[in-house]
Amino acid sequence: MSAKEFRIAAIPADGVGREVVAAGRAVLEAIAADGTGFSFAWEEFPWGSDYYAEHGVMMAEDGLETLKDFDAIYFGAVGWPTVPDHVSLWGLRLKICQGFDQWANIRPVQFLPGIESPLRKADDTHLDWVVVRENSEGEYAGFGGRAFAAREDKGEVAVQSALFTEVGCERIIRYAFELARTRPRKKVSSVTKSNAQQYGMVLWDQVFQRVAAEYPDVATESVLVDAMSAKFVLQPESLSVVVASNLFADILSDLGSALAGSLGLAPSANLNPERRFPSMFEPVHGSAPDIAGQGVCNPIGAFGSAAMMLDHLGLPGEAEGLRKAIEAATAQGVRTRDVGGGATTREVTEAVIANLPAR
Ligand code: NAI
Ligand code: MG
Repeated sequence: MSAKEFRIAAIPADGVGREVVAAGRAVLEAIAADGTGFSFAWEEFPWGSDYYAEHGVMMAEDGLETLKDFDAIYFGAVGWPTVPDHVSLWGLRLKICQGFDQWANIRPVQFLPGIESPLRKADDTHLDWVVVRENSEGEYAGFGGRAFAAREDKGEVAVQSALFTEVGCERIIRYAFELARTRPRKKVSSVTKSNAQQYGMVLWDQVFQRVAAEYPDVATESVLVDAMSAKFVLQPESLSVVVASNLFADILSDLGSALAGSLGLAPSANLNPERRFPSMFEPVHGSAPDIAGQGVCNPIGAFGSAAMMLDHLGLPGEAEGLRKAIEAATAQGVRTRDVGGGATTREVTEAVIANLPAR
């Protein structure tokens, strides 16, 4: 029988994205090494801010067409001081997320042994969340425009609108409930700001109530985003699945990963749940220009993303083995600078590989 081959598109892009994708590939190669019955066929794409300097675009014009046939995309981070951030983000990451209808962005917040949280009450039995981010519309719909740039008397104006559709709200909220059912704590917290955003977010709240009625076994709450940010800090043990709009969930998941110890730890998956298009797996963090190129960035967020990719590819045993290896490495004290250690990216990578289950 021939081994199953998974075709993976690697897009390291910018800054530490390159370092963590290289580290993640090394770990995935070790997992696929001999006798597993599967292998990865990688193709790496040079897209990102350097590509922009040369070609005037962040990715090849036919990039989506090229990516369409891959089993998954393994992404680093995009953004560099040479390109305006809205150009780089819209030209690559958002182009892929929206082009492939990756409408569910799943961002677990994991508390790892040996890593200190800034929360005094943190311990791994209490804190275990997944932030479910609406990833196709909301505040990132790109609706709006600018006008009056040339009118000296008035000053320029800009309008940026958020888009909330019933279909878009329902599919992400339903995803959150289905996910909650698989977890020890069956609870979904919905986050909006519907006292101020009286159209789109009231629609979200109403869809949430309607869908919740179909899941009587799952506890629910609706919380305003400002109160939820306080809750993350003060009552972290009360949360399980947190579902929110594109912007709010983006902000809350950075807060969550900082509470877990570092932005460098947080994994994420941009899923097209219908599997009509490839899904994309990437750490939550950005390109970290302040530490890029030094070999000291934390690769654990990229490793966690690789574990989510293994789950998606139908390799749950391998995903679990990788998660256990990450925990074993942090428990041994092999930590990068951002989490209080002195290890390099390479040393953390080697420690995780050494802790992979024997075959
Ligand atoms: P950032 O996430 O790159 O960095 C924020 C802070 O976290 C920095 O102090 C950085 O050193 C630290 N950090 C991030 N990743 C780390 C890692 N793996 N190990 C250790 N420390 C880490 O966010 P920032 O500075 O706001 O953005 C930098 C660039 O990244 C911008 O161009 C931004 O647009 C882009 N960006 C891209 C994202 C993506 O591709 N998904 C997400 C967020 C930002
Ligand atoms: Mg973010």
